[in-house]
Amino acid sequence: MLNHEQMTQFQQNGYLVLPNFKSTAEIAAVRARADQIVRDFDAAESKSIFTTKEQEKKIDQYFLDSANKISCFFEEEAFDESGKLRQEKALSINKIGHALHDLDPVFSAFSRGPQLAQVAQDLGLAQTQIWQAMYIFKQPGIGGEVRWHQDASYFDTVPISVTTFWFALEDATLENGCLWVEPGGHRSPLRERFVREGDQVRVEKLDHTPWPGDATAVPLEAKAGSLVCFHGLLPHYSAPNRSAISRHAYTLHVTDGRSHYSEQNWIQRDASFPVRGFV
Ligand code: FE2
Repeated sequence: MLNHEQMTQFQQNGYLVLPNFKSTAEIAAVRARADQIVRDFDAAESKSIFTTKEQEKKIDQYFLDSANKISCFFEEEAFDESGKLRQEKALSINKIGHALHDLDPVFSAFSRGPQLAQVAQDLGLAQTQIWQAMYIFKQPGIGGEVRWHQDASYFDTVPISVTTFWFALEDATLENGCLWVEPGGHRSPLRERFVREGDQVRVEKLDHTPWPGDATAVPLEAKAGSLVCFHGLLPHYSAPNRSAISRHAYTLHVTDGRSHYSEQNWIQRDASFPVRGFV
């Protein structure tokens, strides 16, 4: 599936963009399914928001319980001072997570198959394990910023193996909050680790290497249907979406079963709900 040049690009830059990976029909299917999940979501059930600011304080039981469920999270700016939604529910959800890929047949089909298995193999993942799926809305006007981070902070394995599969479901542009990355930044150390102990989480500082600055960050504008693969150590962020157009994306976080998955990672599976791969 990947040619030599693409594999070299991934090794050198820490990421790879594969345009036209998913068809219009495949995208339409998951978008329709996400719409339905949001319609079925009772907004009174939880006002849990998702933010990457002050993560330790904002994470609640609803978030922790979502590890192996299908749960909806609001945008941080979704509510007014009185706690009412500023816009309709469908335009207020930040993301759906985190076990869509195993619990929903439409998302399961989108998240697996021979093409993905081949890409993973070409990137060096011999035994894929998909731990997490997120449908990210990046809503018009209020789509939240995601600060600089490395995904390996959340999926610690020895050796580091987590690889992110990021699917553009709409065109991701500078205006609507596309990804920004630091080419080659996957050779920098893991800066922090997100550790779960029971129902508590904390961020452990591992290394004081600063996050990249504007001078080295590059935007990854991607057409709908593109797959962006990136290394777990690649620093990346996305800006808030102040435009009138949403920026839907779907992500999978995948490790290699040959590595040791930390017992302190926030998502755990057992025999009753085993972790599965692309095949
Ligand atoms: Fe990320």
